[in-house]
Amino acid sequence: MTADPKRSSQITTELDHRQDTNRRFGAVDFEDWLFQRLSLKPGQRVLDVGCGTGGHLLKLAGRAPQGHYHGVDISVSSIEKARRTAADQGLAATFSSGDAGDPAVLPGQQFDLILSVYALYYVQDHRAVLEACRRRLAEGGRLAVVAPYQGNNADWYGFLSAFMTMPEDVMWVADHFMKDVVLPFGHEHFPEVRSHLFQNRVEIPSRDALQAYWESNIYHRPEWDEHFSRQAEEHFRTHSTFTITKRALLATMGPLS
Ligand SMILES: C[S@@+](CC[C@H](N)C(=O)[O-])C[C@H]1O[C@@H](n2cnc3c(N)ncnc32)[C@H](O)[C@@H]1O
Repeated sequence: MTADPKRSSQITTELDHRQDTNRRFGAVDFEDWLFQRLSLKPGQRVLDVGCGTGGHLLKLAGRAPQGHYHGVDISVSSIEKARRTAADQGLAATFSSGDAGDPAVLPGQQFDLILSVYALYYVQDHRAVLEACRRRLAEGGRLAVVAPYQGNNADWYGFLSAFMTMPEDVMWVADHFMKDVVLPFGHEHFPEVRSHLFQNRVEIPSRDALQAYWESNIYHRPEWDEHFSRQAEEHFRTHSTFTITKRALLATMGPLS
């Protein structure tokens, strides 16, 4: 991630675009799926680590307004947007910006649920942040982590690999982050660890929408646009959609005694 405000704001816009694509063209609503499995109770204190523009946290706050909600993200522009949305919607959520790996950034108080969605693998020292989160759980508290999982985007990556090599760090996350970092941490520290597999078929309906999706990814490079465009044109000559299969794992860990 970056400290450059222009790039940071671009990353925020790109993330919004990818999430919008998944919502519009996906078969399953990720947030409904996630919230059902978090079973949040009224009045609970929730921390979202790497909250982005606060979408998940603010929806939780809207559903259970008696709770306490705080989001942390390294992107200043995302946090500004989260604060604006909270104010516009009259929701009592608070936000702070900073690197979750910096011990001074996570709030000192305790939480009933610490949530991190598609974010923890960006921090430098995963285990240190997981440990810092665990220390902030109240008695009975739970830690919930979501990240891409094995086989995520296989169709999409196959399509791209005709002209580019997928960055190793992107591939590492789906293959190893949950399996080799989060789940072993959970089994070491919590009496109960549950894994929930999320799978979603996202049917992109046009070449333009696929092009826009490509441009909103962190691994997009303009020098590959020509290859991409040629291949996308070829694909849509014989297909009416392009299917991207999303696979993610939610690990819920707790309760802390
Ligand atoms: C893919 S986005 C997910 C955002 C949000 N959780 C969601 O699901 O919409 C990853 C987020 O992690 C944040 N991030 C990356 N490195 C971070 C760090 N070291 N500390 C805190 N947040 C970080 C990014 O700024 C970005 O908002």
